Amino acid sequence: MKISVIGTGYVGLVTGTCLAETGNEVVCVDINEDKVAKMQNGEVPIYEPHLDVLFERNINAKRLTFTTSLKEGLDHGDIIFLALPTPEDEDGSADLRYILGVAEQIGKEIKEYKVIVDKSTVPVGTADQVKKVISNNAPCEFDVVSNPEFLREGFAVDDFLKPERIIIGSSSDRATEIMQKLYRPFVRSGNPIIIMDERSAELTKYAANAFLATKITFMNEIANFCEKVGADVDKVRIGMGTDSRIGKRFLFPGIGYGGSCFPKDVKALYKSGKENEYDFQILDAVENVNKSQKTILFPKISSYFNNNLKEKKIGIWGLAFKPETDDIREAPALYLIEKLLEKEVNIIAFDPEAVENVKNKLGNRIEYSTSMYEAVKGVDALVICTEWSIFRTPDFARLKKKMKGHVIFDGRNLYDVEDLRKENIVYFSIGR
Ligand SMILES: NC(=O)c1ccc[n+]([C@@H]2O[C@H](COP(=O)([O-])OP(=O)(O)OC[C@H]3O[C@@H](n4cnc5c(N)ncnc54)[C@H](O)[C@@H]3O)[C@@H](O)[C@H]2O)c1
Repeated sequence: MKISVIGTGYVGLVTGTCLAETGNEVVCVDINEDKVAKMQNGEVPIYEPHLDVLFERNINAKRLTFTTSLKEGLDHGDIIFLALPTPEDEDGSADLRYILGVAEQIGKEIKEYKVIVDKSTVPVGTADQVKKVISNNAPCEFDVVSNPEFLREGFAVDDFLKPERIIIGSSSDRATEIMQKLYRPFVRSGNPIIIMDERSAELTKYAANAFLATKITFMNEIANFCEKVGADVDKVRIGMGTDSRIGKRFLFPGIGYGGSCFPKDVKALYKSGKENEYDFQILDAVENVNKSQKTILFPKISSYFNNNLKEKKIGIWGLAFKPETDDIREAPALYLIEKLLEKEVNIIAFDPEAVENVKNKLGNRIEYSTSMYEAVKGVDALVICTEWSIFRTPDFARLKKKMKGHVIFDGRNLYDVEDLRKENIVYFSIGR
């Protein structure tokens, strides 16, 4: 099939590459000229495990090409995927300007039947809006389908190739049939393609993300309470998680959720509620708790140093909002760093993939290290913000040799409390 993907970020590039992998001819369009030039040179512009192999294979097979020309993309694809940003607007709602801007162009450019597929996370009613905007100009038939994406950064390729489910929101039999045919190779093991109306599909995505954000936040509150009453959140987590109604996943407490999705999606759903005279009280609480959770280590650090942080040197492990990605959008590490900088702390940071992105944002306000051990040289304390695997079993003797102060503030509960006591390291974690 001939496919075009408009927007080649984490979602668009993975979508385009994986659809090429199943034999489709894919043209990816992006307005970012540097990014397109890189991709035309065979360079993957983001860090996403396993993407490079598929990317190279499909470029070589000439099934995957890149352009900055929207017209070229719209001429090529029978199916046009929109994988455009839907960032948070000033009032918390989803900013639809990218989606509606491209929709207008689609109306002006298309000359024959196309299926327009919205993969971006968008508020209920967006498919109707997109239809309206396209039909203002389109001289031909077209359908708009809502096909929310559930991939996780860090596992995006696997998630796309073997999705737990695919949601197709469509009121057109013709478009539904085309979408089922396109996705059949990805559900050979029997996972469902769930067909529903556009509005339900749009809401499914927000409901899923808001639920997961709520689950994390609930556990963060339980962890905070554990500290007050002398309980151990690890034990509580295991005790709860073995109940199959609750499940073991997403019960790990930490320094809050970040990333490009949960924060903005929780806010956008809350705002959609307001616009429709519904007060999502639970989402308001989730948002507020998460905001304070991102800096929950700060009072612990400050009180350890008797509220005198000036000129202290702190090493930070982990900058990305989660492991296996270079994405730093809404990353808790950045919130904590700002708090520490306010107190004139000297910061040296290490992350396996996200340093370049942080450099672009913070410049020389902090120091960067290319190795996890160099990042603790002479520091008064180490703070862990992201649970990258390489941080899980460090050489503590080597750490202690490098560090000036033997104290670790762990925002991701990577170590056993007893083990660190034996190492003579002062250890603060979450809920234990
Ligand atoms: N990142 C995730 O894990 C994830 C998962 C599921 C859903 N989503 C949703 O998917 C959508 C895209 O997210 P993302 O993380 O891939 O975004 P992103 O910011 O990584 O990528 C968006 C891309 O679109 C390009 N772009 C902007 N305007 C354009 C235009 N007019 N024409 C062509 N290209 C244009 C940008 O240059 C950028 O490369 C969002 O709605 C997001 O909520 C994201």
